Amino acid sequence: MKRSIILSIESSCDETGIAVIADGRRILADVVASQVALHAPSGGIVPEVAARAHLRWIVPVLDEAWAAAGVTWADVDAIAVTCGPGLAGSLLVGINFAKALAWVHDKPLVGVNHLEGHVYAAWLTDPGQEASDRPEPIFPLVALVVSGGHTFLAEMRDHLTYRLIGTTLDDAAGEAFDKVGRLLGLGYPGGPAIQRAAEGATRRDVRFPRAWMGDSTDWSFSGLKTAARKIVGEARTEEGLPPDDPTATLSEATTAELAWGFQDSVVDVLVTKTVRAAAAIGARSIVLGGGVAANGVLRGRLAEGASSLGVPLFVPRPGLCTDNGAMIGAAGARRFHAGERAGLDLDARPSLPLAAR
Ligand code: KG4
Ligand code: ZN
Repeated sequence: MKRSIILSIESSCDETGIAVIADGRRILADVVASQVALHAPSGGIVPEVAARAHLRWIVPVLDEAWAAAGVTWADVDAIAVTCGPGLAGSLLVGINFAKALAWVHDKPLVGVNHLEGHVYAAWLTDPGQEASDRPEPIFPLVALVVSGGHTFLAEMRDHLTYRLIGTTLDDAAGEAFDKVGRLLGLGYPGGPAIQRAAEGATRRDVRFPRAWMGDSTDWSFSGLKTAARKIVGEARTEEGLPPDDPTATLSEATTAELAWGFQDSVVDVLVTKTVRAAAAIGARSIVLGGGVAANGVLRGRLAEGASSLGVPLFVPRPGLCTDNGAMIGAAGARRFHAGERAGLDLDARPSLPLAAR
């Protein structure tokens, strides 16, 4: 990878992230302002509230990243920004901020696909960590990105090239975690809360359904969600809880068991199909990313699956799995060196695809 310093900006959803990335891999600074607390009372992201919060936080986040990176504008080669997919209003805050910086400081601008950022998080190294201590993923590889908005499995035979292998036919994996978290009264976001609750499960035999759909490499989580509603409803009746009083929650033991059963089902289908696809294409490594990749059980089981194939798994530390600016800098550096440039007419693309089959 050629030498470069990239200032990168992420604002596609509910995290305002700005980072400074050297040579496509080394994090010099990575600052994220999370809106989780802001959206928790509504149990999900309110787009207008998210966009306004990005506006409020983007300058302080830049100031903090800038101070931590210890670079000057003369050092910066390009500005990378997420241009999609994501919430239009949120994307526009980051894009317009990036454009203003690019114009004022006369720097090239590079648009980055958010999903590509999640893939390239696997290349990042932390301050103080030697790049040689963290080997790079080996091509051909399969990359699984599982987040609140996406479930995406692709084959990569080289940098920046993707063939879509699998996606979700309905809900994203993270969305399923968030919805079932709400059903269990665990609050928002559901993913981390379900993982925490599941750790306390003593009985681990509750079986939630799996939608295998034959040999399909796609996923479907809507049936699981419906099953979860039914299973939670039955458990509530058994514990004598009123059906529509969300303040009356299941006992801790039952909540833990159900959280475990649900998580086990999601992890099982994600891991099984990914490992099968990796074997089918003769992958030499597996990359995992996206907010759901912060899940310890998914990380552990996919590591086992990869090792059964004799290939390494590359997964960023949990803080780099959820949305951040650093991953946009890692992908942006690759795009920058490939000669890609965006004009000042760069626009938000809420449904920007990354790959076709
Ligand atoms: O990548 P991300 O930060 O934002 C999107 O691009 O969507 O992913 C957020 C999603 C949420 O659905 C959240 O519940 C899920 O990632 N998540 C987790 C965990 N941490 C975050 N899901 C399962 N286990 C976790 N530990
Ligand atoms: Zn994301």
